[in-house]
Amino acid sequence: MKISVIGCGYLGAVHAASMAKLGHDVVAVDVDPVKIERLAAGDAPFFEPGLPEILAEAIASGRIRFTTDMAAVAGSRVHFLAVGTPQGPTGAADLTYVDAAVAGLVPHLSDGDFVVGKSTVPVGTAARLAASVSESVPGATLVWNPEFLREGFAVQDTISPDRLVYGVPSGAAGDAAVAALDEVYATTLADGTPRLVVDLATAELVKVSANAFLATKISFINAMAEIAEVVGADVTALADAIGHDERIGRKFLNAGLGFGGGCLPKDIRAFQARATELGVGESLDFLADVDAINLRRRAHVVTLAQELLEGAVAGKRVGVLGLAFKPNSDDVRDSPALDIAARLVELGATVSAYDPQANGTAARIRPELTYVDSADAAVRDADLVLVLTEWNEFRTLDPARVAGLVARPVVVDGRNCLDRDAWTAAGFTVRGMGR
Ligand code: UGA
Repeated sequence: MKISVIGCGYLGAVHAASMAKLGHDVVAVDVDPVKIERLAAGDAPFFEPGLPEILAEAIASGRIRFTTDMAAVAGSRVHFLAVGTPQGPTGAADLTYVDAAVAGLVPHLSDGDFVVGKSTVPVGTAARLAASVSESVPGATLVWNPEFLREGFAVQDTISPDRLVYGVPSGAAGDAAVAALDEVYATTLADGTPRLVVDLATAELVKVSANAFLATKISFINAMAEIAEVVGADVTALADAIGHDERIGRKFLNAGLGFGGGCLPKDIRAFQARATELGVGESLDFLADVDAINLRRRAHVVTLAQELLEGAVAGKRVGVLGLAFKPNSDDVRDSPALDIAARLVELGATVSAYDPQANGTAARIRPELTYVDSADAAVRDADLVLVLTEWNEFRTLDPARVAGLVARPVVVDGRNCLDRDAWTAAGFTVRGMGR
């Protein structure tokens, strides 16, 4: 099928390359010429396992083209909208890019085309955009097909998602849209992926409610961590025990520094803002607590660091392991790890930081940290070591060797990812989260 993808950020670049991988003929458009040039050269602008390989394959096969010229979408039957919806100043989603993408796309649409929204938008956006598309091109149809990909697993989640959700209008246009999307995802559907056909508003809500639920699950366990810390209980053992109940499940019950990244934090705020606009703000009041619990984890680690440095942070050397918001990513957007490292610098500490992938992205927004190129260099002569992102490289560090490098053997395990007994046996004072 001839497909266009508007927006080549995280979602769009992965989606475009994945569509080519599925055998489609893809034209990918972005307003940023630097990004387009890099992608056209097969150079992924961010770290995502598997993306460089499928990008190279797509380019070699001639099934993908990158351009800044929106006119190139003419002739595609399905046009995916994959632009960003960042957090605006009030917490509500900023729809500037979505609106601009639709305005830029409409002049190039033909009857029988489908505009397929993938971006995370406030409920009601799709209906508004559908009206403006059909007003300009009555034979074109706008539908919503939310994305559930996780960074670090983005390619796998796009090609083999755990479900496909189509939000379509009722009637013949909706039926035709379902048929077109079934053709796009033929391989995925043949693998047995469940597919749910719903209305536009439900499709938009599925996405934000899924992220709100995941954020709530993480904050729930972090709230238990706060209580466990007071009573001397172990939140990891607690999570294991409640996680055996299939109704609860063990996934997303890892206590630690909480959630960050480009999705969960902004999505729960935008969801609350939208609910307030709709007059049902009360329904999502609990998300304010989810957000507050989450942000308290960062403050807690800063306080713990101060305590472990006996109140005198100024002039102390702190070795920070991990800056990305989660492992297998170079993304530092709203990263708890980077936030904590920056706060310690503000308090006067000398922070040596190392992340296997995120040193570069972190240095762009937090130049005040000292970036080093190995875990050893980060912990050398440290008065305190903080493990803030659970990369495998840190899980498998040899504590005896680290003990020989640091000035004082004290470690905060911000992600409960270290072998506590091994680190204690190597002479470390180990402080975990909620244990
Ligand atoms: C999230 C959702 O998981 C995806 O389904 C969704 O498609 C995506 O947002 C999006 O809206 O685009 P992602 O931001 O890649 O994906 O990251 P997650 O794997 O959800 O992790 C989010 C944060 O929660 C990370 O900082 C992670 O460290 C933290 N986390 C996760 C915990 O603190 N504890 C856990 O048990 C799990």
